[in-house]
Amino acid sequence: MTSTGMRTHRCGDLRTDHIGTTVSICGWVATRREHGEHLAFIDVRDYTGITQAVVDNSVDVRPEYVVRVTGTVAARPAENVNERISTGGIELQDCRVEVLNVAEPPPFPINERADQVAENTRLQYRYLDLRRERMQRNLRVRAAVNSAVRQAMERQGFVEVETPMLVPSTPEGAREFIVPSRKEPGSFYALPQSPQLFKQLLMVAGVDRYYQVARCLRDEDLRADRQYEFMQLDAEMSFATQDDVLGAISEAVLDAAEAVTGNRPDPIGRITWHEAMNRFGVDKPDLRFGMELVELTEVFASTEFKAFAGAACIKGINASGRAEEFGRNKLDALTDRAKQIGAKGLVWLKVGGDGSLDSPVAKFLTETEQAAVKQLLDARPGDLLLIVADSWMTTCEVLGQLRNDLGRPPVHEGPYRYVWVVDFPLFVSVDDTTGRPRPGHHPFCHPKPEDLDRLETDPMSVRAQAYDLVLNGWELGSGSIRIHEAALQRRVFNLLGISDEEADRRFGFFLTPFRYGAPPHGGFAFGLDRLVAILAGEENIREVIAFPKTQSGSDPMTNAPTPVEPKQLTELGVRVLPKSS
Ligand code: AMO
Ligand code: AMP
Repeated sequence: MTSTGMRTHRCGDLRTDHIGTTVSICGWVATRREHGEHLAFIDVRDYTGITQAVVDNSVDVRPEYVVRVTGTVAARPAENVNERISTGGIELQDCRVEVLNVAEPPPFPINERADQVAENTRLQYRYLDLRRERMQRNLRVRAAVNSAVRQAMERQGFVEVETPMLVPSTPEGAREFIVPSRKEPGSFYALPQSPQLFKQLLMVAGVDRYYQVARCLRDEDLRADRQYEFMQLDAEMSFATQDDVLGAISEAVLDAAEAVTGNRPDPIGRITWHEAMNRFGVDKPDLRFGMELVELTEVFASTEFKAFAGAACIKGINASGRAEEFGRNKLDALTDRAKQIGAKGLVWLKVGGDGSLDSPVAKFLTETEQAAVKQLLDARPGDLLLIVADSWMTTCEVLGQLRNDLGRPPVHEGPYRYVWVVDFPLFVSVDDTTGRPRPGHHPFCHPKPEDLDRLETDPMSVRAQAYDLVLNGWELGSGSIRIHEAALQRRVFNLLGISDEEADRRFGFFLTPFRYGAPPHGGFAFGLDRLVAILAGEENIREVIAFPKTQSGSDPMTNAPTPVEPKQLTELGVRVLPKSS
C-alpha cells in the first residue's frame, strides 16, 4: 500500500494503463517550464520518479516547493513522449495544484549534476543531497541488503542479540573512541570496535548461533572504504567448523547480492592466503584481471646480475601491451613507487618488435636468462615486464601493489568476483623493538591443529583458522575459529609477550568465563557499507551512508565534533589541554 490520505499514487507509478483516471500525487517540484502563453509544465518528484503535470501558468510554484497535484492522467502528444523515464508516456492534465509548503532556492540543483558539487556542500545539505534519485536508490539498496542478510541468518537459526555500546577498552587493534564516566571521573568507557568479545561470551552462554547488524566504531584515518562508524553483519556459531561458518556467511552474502542485482552469484571459491600472496601479491586479490605474479627465482639461480644474485625470491609481472605508454618519467615514477612499498629497486624490460628486450639492465642478463624470462612471462612485442628481487614477502607485496596500480578496474565494475581467502598466518610480522610476533587478526584466533606443535619453535610458520571474504579487491569481512581452551590462549598470549597476570588484568572479564565451559566456536563479520557500496556501484562507502563523516572526520551538517560547555567537562572530571601549535 503506497497510497495515503493525501495521494493515490506515487510520482513514478503512473503508466498509460492509468489514462483517463483522476489521481493525486504529492512531491517536490523538480522543474518548471513555461509552455506557450497560458500553460506551464511542472515535473513533480518523489523517491519513485517524476510525473509531468500541465498546469496553468498562473500557478506559483518553484523548484522544491512541496505540492499536491490532482489531475487526469492523459497520453502525452507523440512528440512529447519521453522513452527514458517510466512515466514518459503520460502527463496530468486539468490539474489542481495545492502548495503544501514553499521552499527557498536550494544551494545546488537537486539532480544528478549535484555530483559535481563540493563534497562538503553535499554533506552540509545532506537532506537535499539525499532527495536525489541516486542517493534514494543507494539507501534502498542498503535496506534490501540489510533485509536479505537478516532473513538469511534467521533462516539458518541465528538469533539476533544486541551487545552494549559502552564497553571497556579491548585488544582488537584499532584506536578507540572513549567516553568519560561521570560517576567515576578518571574512568572511561570505550565504544566497541566490534562486538567480538561479547559475541564469544554469548557462545559460552549457550546461545549457539548469534547474529547482529552491529554498529562499530573505530578512530581510524578515513578512506574510501573506511568511516569512523560502520555497520557489520556480525555472527558467531558454536560447535561449528570453518566450513560451517563460511557456508552460513556465503548464504547471507549471496542472498544480498541476489536481492540487489537479481542474479545469484556462483558459489564462492577459496584460495589460501599463501596462494593469494604468491599469485596476486595481496591478501585481498582482485580476480577480475590477470597479470599474475610469475616465479623467476630459478631463472636467476646463478646470475651475475648483482641486483638479483642470491635473492631469496624473484618474481615478475607482465603489463601486457603497456611498453609504449611508459616513457622514462613514468618508469622512474614506477620505480619510486616500488621503493616506497619496500623494494630495493625495480627492473623493467620492454619487449621490442623483434622480441628483443630493451632495458638498461638487459646487458647484464645472459641470453638464457632473457629467453627464460620471456617464456615464463609469456612476453609479446609491446609488453612491459617488471621484475623484483627480495624476500618472498616483499617481492610479493611490491608486485601485488604494482599489479593493482596498473591493472585494477574501479571496484564496482563487474564482473563481481567473490573469494574466500583461508589459512591466514597466525602472526604477520615481528615487532622490531620487542622481537615478538604480532597477531595477524586478533589474539583469539585458533591456530590450525596440525601446526600447533610449532607454536613456540617456529611461530611464523603457524597458520590460523582465519579467513577473509574478498570482493573485487576489497576486504568485505574477516573471521576465525576462536581459541576456546584457556591453556592455549595463555600460550598465545605468552608468545605475544602478555604475561598471565597482564592477561588477567586486561582481559580477565573475557578469560574468566572461558573457565566455565566454553564450547568450540567461530564466527565472522563483514562490512555492510562495503558490500552495499559495491552492489550500488559506488566507489566510496560515504555514498551509501545516510549521514557520513567527511574525510577529515567531521559532519558539516551538524558541525560535529563541537566543543562542549565547561560545566559538562567539570561534571566529567575532564580538563582540555590547550592546543599545541
Ligand atoms: P575486522 O576488523 O576485520 O573484523 O572487521 C570486519 C569488517 O568490517 C569492515 N570494516 C570497516 N568498514 C568501514 N569502515 C571501517 N573503519 C571499517 N573497519 C572494518 C570491513 C572488515 O572486513 N570482530 C572481527 C570479526 C570476527 O573475527 O568475527 C572484526 O571486526 O569490511
Ligand atoms: P643497482 O645495481 O642498484 O644500480 O640497480 C640496477 C637496476 O636494478 C636498477 O634499475 C634498480 O632499480 C634495479 N634493482 C636493484 N635492486 C633490485 C631488486 N632487489 N629488485 C629489482 N630490481 C632491482
